[in-house]
Amino acid sequence: MAEVIIVPDAAAAGALVADEIASLIAADPEVVLGLATGSTPLPVYEALRPRLEGVDVSKVRGFALDEYVGIDPEHPESYRNVIRREVVEPLGLDPARINTPNGALETIQHAGDDYEKAIAAAGGVELQILGIGTDGHIGFNEPGSSFASSTRVKTLTEQTKKDNARFFDSVDQVPTHCITQGLGTILRARHLVLLAFGEGKADAVAGAVEGPVSASLPGSAIQLHPRVSVVVDEAAASRLRRADYYRYAWDNKPDWQGL
Ligand code: PGA
Repeated sequence: MAEVIIVPDAAAAGALVADEIASLIAADPEVVLGLATGSTPLPVYEALRPRLEGVDVSKVRGFALDEYVGIDPEHPESYRNVIRREVVEPLGLDPARINTPNGALETIQHAGDDYEKAIAAAGGVELQILGIGTDGHIGFNEPGSSFASSTRVKTLTEQTKKDNARFFDSVDQVPTHCITQGLGTILRARHLVLLAFGEGKADAVAGAVEGPVSASLPGSAIQLHPRVSVVVDEAAASRLRRADYYRYAWDNKPDWQGL
């Protein structure tokens, strides 16, 4: 089962996950990280910055989860640009080693396969950072997505478009299609770290961790993975039935175990 870690706030979550990522980089300077966009992972990237000062990160590799289809690559909200602005530049990573699915229309027919091949050629993702949508999506795998899916084009739900409208001038400007790593792709990463903060994520978190394993709640795919850390604040943990047990397990975690 997922290890559920309930932390006081997003900054504490960021520090915890950043410690783990910094150790991975120290152990393997060419480590392959699975990066995510959205508001949730930002405290991780912020906490990583001081931890990586003076560290050679020039060989770190990364794969983002998803991209909008047909968005101008120069658009500030294309995920390629978001990853560059929020991760690559602040952490001093090599942009040539950090990949985002290619949402260009001209090559979209084979962009999913190309991305899968690139991940496989890199040896797979060591640690995948995940947020979760209010509808339970991970990456842009909307409800109904196959647990076996690989990187492909999906249609965003109206809810997701509304959730993401804050990054655009209006909801109409949010692209309707995206290219996203599949649930099968995500499940191939060796360690999944799902973060969620705030009351608005409480139902999705409870469904992902404790609900039935169902394509109707794509985040529940994490129950099929042998190594998952779910790092949540009190509000996002508020609908978990076994919260007391998760706290007890974390408080009694042996020192020799990492995240
Ligand atoms: P958020 O998005 O981190 O901006 O809440 C999460 C997601 O949609 O996966």
